[in-house]
Amino acid sequence: MFYAQILTLFPEFFDSPLSCSIPKRAIEADIAKVDCIQIRDFSTDKHRTVDDKPYGGGPGMLMKPEPVVAAIREARRRDTKTHVVMLTPSGHRFTQQKALEYVEKDSLTLLCGRYEGFDERICDEVDEQLSLGDYVLSGGEPAALSVLDAVFRLLPGVLGSPESAVLDSFTEEGILDWPHYTRPEIFEGKSVPDVLLSGDHAKIEAWRKTQAEIRSNVRKKKA
Ligand code: ADE
Repeated sequence: MFYAQILTLFPEFFDSPLSCSIPKRAIEADIAKVDCIQIRDFSTDKHRTVDDKPYGGGPGMLMKPEPVVAAIREARRRDTKTHVVMLTPSGHRFTQQKALEYVEKDSLTLLCGRYEGFDERICDEVDEQLSLGDYVLSGGEPAALSVLDAVFRLLPGVLGSPESAVLDSFTEEGILDWPHYTRPEIFEGKSVPDVLLSGDHAKIEAWRKTQAEIRSNVRKKKA
């Protein structure tokens, strides 16, 4: 079973997304298990403080090291072989390749921050820093959820057809998926390409490959 722990100030953020669609299926089938750890529970003062002002001045507040590090250590105590990932816009970019790597690890701990970021000394306690993209979210929670979704759908037995995950965009050499069509054959004057109706499987496969390559090249030029 794949075990995910989420370190967060907002465990309730995950309730609804994890109780529908693919994550729900993975959890109900005992293919995945998710535990949230409330970082605030590891604060030791009576106000349950988890943030503080940055030394040197400047706007915003930072996540304090003591409760966050204690929460990370609790996650490691619960599962000694877990891989701890800090979600931060300054981390390495999350990719399909990373999702495939995480599936193999069997246990992931996702650390979500709020406020302006983490005290730098927290970074020494994690195995990796990960970013969803070059934009700033109000917290790591939406990023953690994206990571879990991308990983869960790759777990054996979660998707309806075992080929779907493998055939996905990006999986093979980072190439984008080809265009897909379903019924009706003509929608608002736009027809399904003839080749897809031809029944010639070799031709269809060649067309899909070319289309995927065209898309990948267009996307590269835009990036
Ligand atoms: N926290 C805030 N912004 C983020 C991002 N882009 N990726 C991961 N975690 C974040």
